[in-house]
Amino acid sequence: MRILVINGPNLNMLGIREPDIYGRVTYDALCEKIKAHAAEKGIDVALYQSNHEGDLVDAIQQAYGNTDGIVINPGAYTHTSVAILDALKAVSIRAVEVHISDVDAREAFRRTSYVRLACEKTISGHGINGYLEAMDYLAGGNG
Ligand code: DQA
Repeated sequence: MRILVINGPNLNMLGIREPDIYGRVTYDALCEKIKAHAAEKGIDVALYQSNHEGDLVDAIQQAYGNTDGIVINPGAYTHTSVAILDALKAVSIRAVEVHISDVDAREAFRRTSYVRLACEKTISGHGINGYLEAMDYLAGGNG
């Protein structure tokens, strides 16, 4: 089981950015946690982060044919990007949308998610554990 975990803009600033909302765990620490969880569950995991929409589209396209599941937190592009939605649809890889914060309990504009239309599941507001839950969901063969 190969899972690609994709993080979008500003998630490299975890631990620094708005800690009251996103917590104090850094992006590097998140990656270590994801890798440790993957090792425990026998999942082959790859991690990718970019602040650029086209790079996120490229990463999704490059997963075609070699990846069983995508865990994606597109950051602010969640609420704007038809291109990321279309990339997920193009590759037809099972995907789970993750948000560290509870996007539905914040500003109204965060309630819109384009990528959700191509995802089997959304995990929102579970902090960084949401990434691990998404991996378990995909590895469990649900859906
Ligand atoms: C986020 C929520 C988005 O609205 C925001 O733009 C982010 C992070 C989250 O993980 O809670 O960058 O995706």
